[in-house]
Amino acid sequence: MLHSNQFGNNFLWGVTIAAAQNEGAYNAYGRGTSIWDQFSKRKGKIKNNAKPYIACDFYHRYKDDLLLVKALGFKVFRFSISWSRILPEGVGKINKEGVLFYHKVIDECLQLNIIPFITLYHWDLPQALENEGGWASHQLIKWFSKFVTICAEEYGDKVKNWIILNEPMGFTSLGYMLGKHAPGKTNMVTFLSAIHNAVLAQAEGGRIIRHYVANATIGTTFSCSEVIANSDKQQDIAAANRMDILLNRLFIEPALGMNYPNADFAFMDKLHLHTKAWKYTERMRFDFDFIGIQNYFPITIKHSSIIPFIQATDIKAKTRKVPYTALGWEINADSFYRIIQKFAAYENVKSIIITENGACFKDELKQGIIDDKDRILYFEKYLNSLLNAKMDGLKVDGYFAWTLMDNFEWNEGYNARFGLIYVDFLTQLRTIKNSGYWWRSFLTN
Ligand code: NOJ
Repeated sequence: MLHSNQFGNNFLWGVTIAAAQNEGAYNAYGRGTSIWDQFSKRKGKIKNNAKPYIACDFYHRYKDDLLLVKALGFKVFRFSISWSRILPEGVGKINKEGVLFYHKVIDECLQLNIIPFITLYHWDLPQALENEGGWASHQLIKWFSKFVTICAEEYGDKVKNWIILNEPMGFTSLGYMLGKHAPGKTNMVTFLSAIHNAVLAQAEGGRIIRHYVANATIGTTFSCSEVIANSDKQQDIAAANRMDILLNRLFIEPALGMNYPNADFAFMDKLHLHTKAWKYTERMRFDFDFIGIQNYFPITIKHSSIIPFIQATDIKAKTRKVPYTALGWEINADSFYRIIQKFAAYENVKSIIITENGACFKDELKQGIIDDKDRILYFEKYLNSLLNAKMDGLKVDGYFAWTLMDNFEWNEGYNARFGLIYVDFLTQLRTIKNSGYWWRSFLTN
C-alpha cells in the first residue's frame, strides 16, 4: 500500500485552492471587481452562465475549511491572494479589511500547524487594471510590483513560502489569445505583450519577495504537458516540437536566464522581435528556490496546416482509446514521470514541487457518500509515478493536490468537480469524498 512516509520526512504534502475559485464575497468588505466577475457577465462564456460571486464562500467559512485541511492530514495549504481585495482599483487605496482577511487565514493556518503557501497571482486581475490594458500594458510591472510589495510587507513575517504566478501560459493564452478565459481577448499583439509582461513580472515579483521577506522560499508555477508526436513523420515531429516550446518552455527558460527559446518557428520570431527579448535576458531571470509544476495530462499532436503559426493540432483522448477524465483529459501516469524528468533536467532548477495535480470526474452524492473510485485510482497511479521519480533521484520535494473542494472551474463553471470534498453549491454543505478519506489514510495512520 502506498503511503506518504515512503517519500521521506521532509516531503511537503499540500492541497491548493485559489481566491477567485473559492472565496466568493465578491462585492463585499471593500473588494473591487475582478476580470472574472466582469467576464462572467458575458453570455455564453461560462457554462450555464455561472458566476464566481459566491463560489464556496470560503471568505466566511475559512475556519471550518482549514479544519478540513487538517482533518485530511495535509501539512501545507496553498491559497492565492485576490488583488482586488487588497487594492480594489488595482493601485492606489489599500482595502484594510481585505488585508485583514488574509492575516486571519494565515493565523488560522499557523494555529493549526499548517504551512501557508501564498500564490500572488492566480488569474484574477482587478478589472480597473484591465480597463487600462491589463497584462498587455507595459505598466503592468509597476502595478504588480506595488501589489507584491504590499503583500510582502504585510505577510512576510508570518509566511515564508511564496509562489509568484500561477500558470502564466494559462492566463495569457486563454485570456488574451483564445478568448476562453477572462478578459476574453483574441489578439496576437496583446498576447505577445502579455507573455512578456508575465515573464518580467514573475522575475520582478521574485526579487521583491527576496528583498522584503527574510528567509523566504520563492517559486513560481508552470503548467506543463508532455507533447507526444502522433507519428514518426517529420511533419508531426516538428509540430510536436513547436507545441512543446509553447506549452513547456516559453516561461521557464527566460526565468532560468536562457531567454525565450530560439527555434525555427514563426511565432517565436514574432515574440523575439515584438519584445526585443535580447535586451531583457537579465531582467527576465530570477534565482527561484523551487519551480512549481502543474500537470494533468499529456497531449498527442499532429501537423495541421490550417492552424495559424503553430500549424499543429491535438488528437483528443476520446478518439484514441485511452482513459480520460470527465473533461476529456488523458490519464497517463507514466507521462507524469516523464514531465518531472524533463523539468528536473534543467541545470538551474534547484527543486521541484508539484503545485497542482488532480482529476475531474462526475461525482454523485448517494446517501451521503461520494464513492469516487476513479479519482482514487488516478491519485494512486500518479503518486506511484511520483514515488518512482523520487526514488530515481529526481529533485522533487513536494506535491499539492488540486483541490480541497469542488469550486468555480473557470469557463466550466461549477460542473467540473475536482475536489476531495464535495460541495453542494445551494446549501454550501461539504461532504468528504472517498478520495478525501483515501488521502487521510495516505497521509496519516
Ligand atoms: C490549473 C489552474 O491553476 C486551476 O485554477 C484549475 O482549476 C486547475 N488547473 C484545473 O483545471
